[in-house]
Amino acid sequence: MLAGEERCPIEISIAQPGAASQIRGTVDRRYLATRQQEVDRALDRFLPKASTKPITIHKAMRYSLFAGGKRLRPILCLAAAEACGGLTKSALPLACALECIHTYSLIHDDLPSMDNDDFRRGRPTCHKIFGDGIAILAGDALLTIAFEIAAEAEVRPPYDLRSVLRELALAAGSRKLIAGQVADLEAEGKPIDRAQLRYIHKNKTAALLTASVRLGAMSGNGTAAQLVAMSKFGRALGLAFQVIDDILDVTQTSEKLGKSAGKDAAAHKATYPSVLGLERSRAEASRLTRQAHEALRPLGARAETLRALANYLLEREY
Ligand code: IPE
Ligand code: IPE
Ligand code: MG
Ligand code: MG
Ligand code: MG
Repeated sequence: MLAGEERCPIEISIAQPGAASQIRGTVDRRYLATRQQEVDRALDRFLPKASTKPITIHKAMRYSLFAGGKRLRPILCLAAAEACGGLTKSALPLACALECIHTYSLIHDDLPSMDNDDFRRGRPTCHKIFGDGIAILAGDALLTIAFEIAAEAEVRPPYDLRSVLRELALAAGSRKLIAGQVADLEAEGKPIDRAQLRYIHKNKTAALLTASVRLGAMSGNGTAAQLVAMSKFGRALGLAFQVIDDILDVTQTSEKLGKSAGKDAAAHKATYPSVLGLERSRAEASRLTRQAHEALRPLGARAETLRALANYLLEREY
């Protein structure tokens, strides 16, 4: 059983056709568990064994990577590939590369010089176990291996490996994910308006989620119109995702989250609840999820899993 499931079992979904809202069915726990296992097996194949020298770094990389993350970015990548008629097998290296980048960003995000968090994915943070130096290097190594893994992807025209690697590098780089993290740090303890908050969330979180669905679509040989739809979907979904993350920090326990709750207010972070309040933040997350659904319209019935995933992300409790 995955650590996440132990913390919070996911309700088996019952789709409600005809419900007034566009928020209908969600994915069931078997779907998520199967996908998580598929991704975990592939990551295990791609990562150097813990016994590979230098042992400390490979242990640290695996410690954080196999700590029971939800694997949402890889799952979205695989679902996007399917939505465009592609095979999940072809998208798997890209899905794994995305998870490595995400895990690196969490290791660094938790460092004392950043968010200073002691718990992540239900266990002590990487730097608490291995020390700051090895945690920094484990993050560096996960970011680097992401590109080695992505280079294994078989990409067919009109896409090529170059376009795929560029997509990944841009999302993770100083104009997207890192830009958001910089703005997040610089906004600590300062008054902030909605536009600045949106900038932080769009870059630190939505950029990698957008790349996840776009890379899935590229691997599935999606059309230009499908790629545009994925960009819109990823952006709205990614913003909703971070709004919910901010809300959960206020409303959930550390035990349920597998990371320290209540840290955002303590660190005077710029979050949706701090700027809009909880109720308006919830309304904003629902509005963004409806926007994400709207973006999928051109993909028709094939995008049903992506729609269900968007609903799951909105309704999640950790
Ligand atoms: C947490 O991401 C960090 C954010 C971008 C908000 P997840 O909630 O996807 O974390 P894991 O991968 O399940 O641990
Ligand atoms: C993290 O945002 C975003 C990235 C790691 C890029 P948060 O700082 O809100 O994530 P948590 O709450 O620590 O998981
Ligand atoms: Mg942070
Ligand atoms: Mg953090
Ligand atoms: Mg957070």
